Amino acid sequence: MNACIAAVVRRSEVRGLKSVGILRGFEGLVGGSAMQLDAHSVSGIAGRGGTILETSRDGSLKARLEVGALGRMFAAVGIDALIVLGGGGSISAARGISDAGLPVIAVPCTIDNDIAGTDYTIGFDSACNRVIAAANDIADTAESLGGRIFLIETLGGESGHIAISSAYAIGADAVLVPEIKPDLPVLCGRLKAEMDAGKTYVVIVVAEGAGPAPNLIEPIAELVGRRVRVTALGHAQRGGPPTYWDRKMARAFGERAVDLLIDGECDAMTALAGGVLTETPMSVPVSTKKPLDEKTYELINTGAKLKAGG
Ligand code: F6P
Repeated sequence: MNACIAAVVRRSEVRGLKSVGILRGFEGLVGGSAMQLDAHSVSGIAGRGGTILETSRDGSLKARLEVGALGRMFAAVGIDALIVLGGGGSISAARGISDAGLPVIAVPCTIDNDIAGTDYTIGFDSACNRVIAAANDIADTAESLGGRIFLIETLGGESGHIAISSAYAIGADAVLVPEIKPDLPVLCGRLKAEMDAGKTYVVIVVAEGAGPAPNLIEPIAELVGRRVRVTALGHAQRGGPPTYWDRKMARAFGERAVDLLIDGECDAMTALAGGVLTETPMSVPVSTKKPLDEKTYELINTGAKLKAGG
């Protein structure tokens, strides 16, 4: 998020605009809490996780976004247009503001990568890399101890995109996501057969929405007959320095958002589609659910990667 804020501020300056940062997201918008931003104030923030503007998780704020008051706040703080950085909730609130006639551009920022209309949301790559780092560490122990099943619980809210992508990347033996009810006896039957045939250890990535992972310890241990241990990565996935890909996309999206406003767009979300930087009407993320990568889910959970020699 910080890398995107820096890009927006810098691009605005280059294009002759001034930036104001709204503090704590919609809470600041409702309460009129803002700070002036310039190239100096965003210097050095792009490599830090999180957001210098902070955020709020108050679901009731959306209902309290009274558009007339927002218009007055825009005028009072001297804002002509808004760039909203956030996930699904923020983007649907942004759409409400744009419906009321105020120019708004959304930038998809969530580690969950669950926003329709874009292949990518800022934070996803960094979050998946945290899963990879944890899996590498766990593998050291797993190989030494042998015979165990390791559940790695990822974030992702009610979506399984982080879990599936990172499970694929690490070559996990199985992945559990909230969107698909697993056939645990069948899955565990395969894992048991593989362990009985000499497989040293098993890694299962569990999306938080399919968990909590500790609740799966007993059934899996019973079905496979091995010791099951859990590592819940939690908020460690939301912090730390962003990866190369996240910084690059944060800059690209931030600059695009400013350019779109200047070009007169007032109801769009920046997007990545098939590797191309583009934009989509905000109605797309607001009214559509992003499909899950079911092919990869199947590939992982049928053990097909083993047959393919991976
Ligand atoms: O939506 C992003 C996210 O990181 C989810 O993956 C996760 O469920 C949630 O936020 C964690 O935040 P909180 O602690 O506020 O629930």
